[in-house]
Amino acid sequence: MSALTELYQEIARCQQCGIAKTRNRVVPGEGAEDAEILFIGEAPGWHEDQQGRPFVGPAGQYLDELLALIGLKREQVYIANVIKCRPAANRDPLPVEIRNCRQWLERQIEIISPRMIVTLGRYSMAMFFSGKSISKIHGTAQKRNDVIYYAMYHPAAALHQGSLRQEIEADMLKIPSILEQARAIPETEASPQQLKMFEV
Ligand code: URA
Repeated sequence: MSALTELYQEIARCQQCGIAKTRNRVVPGEGAEDAEILFIGEAPGWHEDQQGRPFVGPAGQYLDELLALIGLKREQVYIANVIKCRPAANRDPLPVEIRNCRQWLERQIEIISPRMIVTLGRYSMAMFFSGKSISKIHGTAQKRNDVIYYAMYHPAAALHQGSLRQEIEADMLKIPSILEQARAIPETEASPQQLKMFEV
């Protein structure tokens, strides 16, 4: 059994938050175990909770289109979320849920060991770019311990706001050249808050 499949079984047994009781399916994430790029969204929505798969509703269809812009299919990357269970009525994830769930994302990062981590929206951005604003840092890359961190808007937000659509598409189109020129990106020092995440 692959390390990720074993991890999925552990995640499925997790009962740390109340939303474990209201979820239909846990949504651990999916994609290539050796993916170069890991995309991290926010939380499963209704469609994801039904299917147990990340980004399969309208935002997911748009994410597929964004990936196609750079010639990628979702099976070639890895797609995960900050939290693995759907918050009731699509409310925002609670800080305690993010804290409880963080261990799973850390283990996913450890197993996949991606070259690039792309945050989608402000919840995943906050885990890696503490105290930053998405409107300022989207589309800019940072490198720490040889991993590139790159913030993008959430596809669901871009889907509903025409101006963000152009921005998210432009940001996606930059990814191939960032990967190509990764060596030229200077290493940034992590803040103490970020260090725990980067130790994985
Ligand atoms: N939005 C997310 O952040 N994640 C999903 O899996 C689906 C929609």
